[in-house]
Formats: sequence, structure tokens, C-alpha cells
Amino acid sequence: MMMTSNDIHIFLLFLIPLPPPYEYEITLSICLLPMSTFILGIESSCDDTSAAVLKDRKVLANLIANQDVHKNFGGVVPELASRAHQQNIIPVIDNALRSANIQKKQLHAVAFTNGPGLLGSLLVGTSFAKSFAFALGIPMITVNHMHAHIHALFIEDELQKPPPPFPFLCLTVSGGHTQIVLVKNPYSMEVIGQTIDDAAGEAFDKAAKIMGLPYPGGPLIDRHASSGNPDAFSFPHPQVSGLDYSFSGLKTSILYFLRDQLKHDPNFIEKNLHDLSASIQSNIIQILMKKLHLAARQTGIQHIAIAGGVSANSGLRKALQEQEAAGKWKVYIPRFEYCTDNAAMIAISGYFNYLQKDFAPLDTVPFTRYKS
Ligand code: KG4
Ligand code: ZN
Repeated sequence: MMMTSNDIHIFLLFLIPLPPPYEYEITLSICLLPMSTFILGIESSCDDTSAAVLKDRKVLANLIANQDVHKNFGGVVPELASRAHQQNIIPVIDNALRSANIQKKQLHAVAFTNGPGLLGSLLVGTSFAKSFAFALGIPMITVNHMHAHIHALFIEDELQKPPPPFPFLCLTVSGGHTQIVLVKNPYSMEVIGQTIDDAAGEAFDKAAKIMGLPYPGGPLIDRHASSGNPDAFSFPHPQVSGLDYSFSGLKTSILYFLRDQLKHDPNFIEKNLHDLSASIQSNIIQILMKKLHLAARQTGIQHIAIAGGVSANSGLRKALQEQEAAGKWKVYIPRFEYCTDNAAMIAISGYFNYLQKDFAPLDTVPFTRYKS
């Protein structure tokens, strides 16, 4: 019988009692059981350096080194991000392996983000993954960051709902992308709607910046919104056809509105921070939900998921849950820590590719813009 290193292996030692002086005979028995797959995931597409170890679809470790260095710049500074990744990548991977209690030699593959993202940041993860996989003699797997956000729904975690059945719709909302994706299976995803300018996360971050809040502003707006009135201020909604989005107009109308208000009252923002946050958040959610409803109607699909950094937003999560409570949709929302950038989602995406033996060659290069 042919056995490959991927087919087997659990060796069981049976201790059979014998009369003295032998005491025990050790019988080595080889059982043909499917072996667990250990995958190291590496994420470095933007400003988070993250490493995770998965045993099949279960997370053993998922560590993230955030980069505070961008806070006062109002956005990610690419050169600073690459340098911070270089400093963080080895300690983060080392700690992830240690906290998963996994030796390097137990790994079956290294999965890493090869795009879309910032070129310098991606290059750090890519170069590290190549040398690491090469040195260990294991395959490396390239992962599309946006697909990985969706694959995060498939992480086996008792605090997360079982994954949606296929096909389902996923609103993937991050700092760089806003897409409505028709997910036919783990390997086939069709973008049926997307932003024609800014992403939803960008809208949150830019609105926060206008209000003088540090980067990333999305989580801060979310926090201030919790005690504000969402109907206090209204902003015009974009008129974009089909399932596409636009957020650049919202940013401009917030900018002009605040400029006018500040002329009368220089403390307008401080005085109204909670109401402004709640109103901006509610506006963005209404825009997102409108097209998601349209997509559900057009496709007839009622299994609806959200993914990406903005899916951590409490208002958006609530808006989806309300649809489920009203009996309209079955909704799927990743656990909070799998929404914003993390390497567990890269490792689960890598796991799907591993099952297909979809391995990358050593001369693979990163890409910056989304491709399906
Ligand atoms: O997916 P992600 O971590 O990184 C990218 O792939 O871009 O998304 C980051 C985006 C940022 O724009 C951040 O402000 C936004 O997600 N974000 C939020 C929240 N948490 C993160 N936006 C609104 N509410 C939140 N709670
Ligand atoms: Zn992301």
C-alpha cells in the first residue's frame, strides 16, 4: 500500500502485559486516519502584522501586532507600515507558533496574503513566507485578502455560527474595498456590486479625520455613536445605479456641513460629537443596507453575510440581526476578532487552497489592486 506523508498518520503504541521478565511488549500499530493539517497564516497587506496557526478549520493561535505609528497621520503611511512589518514579523510568527504549541516542522503549509494591499507591506509577508516555506520544505499558498475576509466565516469556532450554505451573498466592507459578493463556493466568488470611489471604511475614517479623531476613526465613530442620536443630522444619499456604491460625496457633504457650523460655533464638533458620530454611522449603514436589500431581491438569495473591518461595526451588525429577527434573512456575522485584519482568515483561506493542492511557485509576486 502506498502511503504519502499527507494521507496518514497516527501511530498508536499498545502496551500488552506479559509475564516477567518481559513485563510489556510494545506493539506499534499504524492506523489510517486522516491527519490534521497545520497551516501558518501570515497577514501583512496594510498596517497589521498578524500570524495565526490553524489546525484544519480551528484556530490555535491568532496574534496581531498593530501599528500605532499611523495614528497621528490620519491614515496609513506606506513606508512606515513596511518598516513596522519588518520589525514585527518574526516575533509575531514566533509567538503564534509558541502559543499554538506547534513546532515549525509540524506545519504543512505557509499561507500568506499576496494582495490586494500596499506593495511594500505585501513584500515583507511574501518574502518572509517564501524563505520560511523554502527552508522548511513545505508548500506555500497565496491568499487573496478580500476572499480571506469571506473565508473567515468558515473558521470553526464555538462562538461563531456555522458557515452559510452556498450560494450566499456577502457584503465585504473594509478600509480599501466595499463589495457585494455572490459566493458560489469557497473557490468561486463573483463581485456583483462595488464602490465606484471610496470604501465604507474609508468613509468612516475620513469623517473621523474631519472631526479631528485619530486613525482609524471607524471604531471611534462606532463608540461615540452608541450614545448619540442617529437622526440628529442628515446627509444626502448617493444616487448610483445598480448594486454599486459611492461614498466620496458623503465625505464632502460632512466637510462642508462642519465648515459652515464651525463658522458659527468653533466648539460645534466637541458639543455634538456623539450625535454627529451616530448620524454619520447611520447614514453609511443605510447606504450599505439599501444595495444589500436590492442584491438579495435580485438574486433571490436570503443567506446574507458581512465581512471585513467595517463588519465589526455595532450598528451594521445590528441592522443585519434585525433582518433575521424579522424573519427576512438568515445572517452570518464573523466573530469580532475575525472581522478586522487578522491572519486566522488568511490561514483558513490557505486551508481551502491546501485541500485543492493549489500551491504557489517561488517566483510568485504580490499584487496591489483587487482581482478575482
Ligand atoms: O478589513 P480591515 O481591518 O482592513 C482593510 O482590509 O482595509 O478594515 C479596516 C477598516 C478601517 O477603515 C476601520 O476604520 C474600519 O475597518 N473599522 C470600523 C470598525 N472597526 C474597524 N468601522 C466602523 N466601525 C467599526 N467598529
Ligand atoms: Zn482587510
